[in-house]
This record gives sequence, structure tokens and C-alpha cells, in this order.
Amino acid sequence: MEQCAVGASGPPLPPRQAADPAGAALVDTSGGALRTPVDRRALALADRPAPAPAARARDWHADPYADALRTGRGPLFLRRGDGWLLPLEVERWCAPPDEADATVLARCRGRVLDVGCGPGRLVAALAARGRPALGVDVSRHAVERAVREGGAALCRSVFDPLPGTGRWATLLLIDGNIGIGGDPRALLARARELAAPDGTVIVETAGTELDERVVVRVDDGRGGHGTPFPWARLGTRALLAYGGRAGWVAVEQWRVGDRRFVQLRRD
Ligand SMILES: C[S@@+](CC[C@H](N)C(=O)[O-])C[C@H]1O[C@@H](n2cnc3c(N)ncnc32)[C@H](O)[C@@H]1O
Repeated sequence: MEQCAVGASGPPLPPRQAADPAGAALVDTSGGALRTPVDRRALALADRPAPAPAARARDWHADPYADALRTGRGPLFLRRGDGWLLPLEVERWCAPPDEADATVLARCRGRVLDVGCGPGRLVAALAARGRPALGVDVSRHAVERAVREGGAALCRSVFDPLPGTGRWATLLLIDGNIGIGGDPRALLARARELAAPDGTVIVETAGTELDERVVVRVDDGRGGHGTPFPWARLGTRALLAYGGRAGWVAVEQWRVGDRRFVQLRRD
């Protein structure tokens, strides 16, 4: 399965255009490939060679992830080299926002950038409320689904040039997305670049106090898997430590059931 590829195989989507939360007129979300000239600034950015990212996930476009997004169902896991499996909650990601998500949505202010938006339940919910929100994800299948759900989304890595850099009021790193790239320090530094001077980031942390960097694959538990890539898991304490070093200060911490969240603002 290809990542953000032009002309890649997959179900055809009706072209859609959505309000650009970064302030430009329109963003083409017809499959994440930015093929139509609806947002010249985003296109100009897209045409520039991407900087060598600290970590660029290439492997969330593995067939098992695409298949799970197509059906809206798991089982799906992140598998570590030693066989340990982290279950991925595909059903929850493909469902409308739950009670815990509602607490995140309630704290979103201004323009929202959902980093690793997956199938887009949060950007779709924000769009339905008339709130400016953009998702970014390296998986073309995730972006297509997010757009079908009514969200605006770009098929791009968070480490690539993005519209609205330095102007996002709220960034989201939900569902364990602090793990993106396997280097929380680099991701929090990137989030700081993307955020407005008074911007915040809402991070979902692990249920236990851990600070783990691992190499994993997406795995469907039935023999299908992608290629290895770096990932990280952080408990709240570790997040606060990394955040402090990357120029973020904690605003609030809360918990809903077994899900934990921290909101940080730019220092
Ligand atoms: C744990 S899943 C989160 C799912 C998502 N939050 C949702 O609501 O369904 C991680 C997501 O991050 C995306 N991802 C991985 N690396 C990325 C990167 N460098 N930039 C943007 N998205 C990335 C994956 O494609 C995947 O959809």
C-alpha cells in the first residue's frame, strides 16, 4: 500500500473541497494527493522538497491498517520485535467521538491541527460544529476516510511542510500519537513550531508511567504485517519532562475512564 501516493489504487472518491482551517481559501482533500490547484500555498509547500524529517513513518500504510480502516474493524496491533502486542482500537477510531473525546473537543480553541488524524473522527466532529480543523496523516486510506466523514485532511507527515505553520491554536496528539516518529522530543519540538505563540497541544498519554521507544510493525494478528518503524509510548510524567525541554508548560491534566490527557501551552 502506498503512502500519500498520486494515482495509487483504492476506492475512487468524489472530489471534495473543504474550508481551509489554516486560513487559505480551500484545501483539496480528494485523496490527499493535492492534485488540483485549490490551495496554491499548500501546493507550493508540497512541491518543496521535504526536509529530512527526524522520523518519517512509512509504515502505517501497510495493508493491515488499510484493511482495518476499510472495514472499520480490527483486530489490529503494534507488534514489537519480541512479540509483545499493543492492541489498536480501530473500532473506536472509526466510531463517532466518545465521552473521553468530548473532553478533548471541548478544550479545542481556534484553528485545530489533528496530528495523525487517522480516519478523522475528531476533525469530522469539529467540522460538523463549524470549527476550523485540519487533520494530517501519512496514510492515504486514513485521509480518504476522514474526508468521507466530513473532515478536512491532508496526506502528509507532520514533519513535512504544513500550511498554517506557527498559527495553529490547538494541536492534537490523541490515541497515543505522541508515539509518532518514535522520538517524543522531536515531535514536541515540531508541534511547537506548528503552534501559534499562545497555542496549546493536547496529548493523550499512556495509562501507566512509562517512557518507551520501540520498533514495531502494524500487525493484524493473522499473519499480515507492515514493515518496522519507530514508535514511542509515554506516561504523563515522561510527557511533562519532554514537554518542558521542548518549550511547553502544563495547563491541565485529566482522565476519563482509562484514558489520560494533558494540555500544554507554549512557554
Ligand atoms: C495510533 S494511530 C491514531 C489514530 C487516530 N488518532 C484516529 O483518530 O483514528 C496513529 C496515526 O498516525 C499516523 N501517522 C504515523 N506517522 C505519522 C506522521 N509522521 N505524520 C502524520 N501522521 C502519522 C498513522 O497513519 C495513524 O493513522
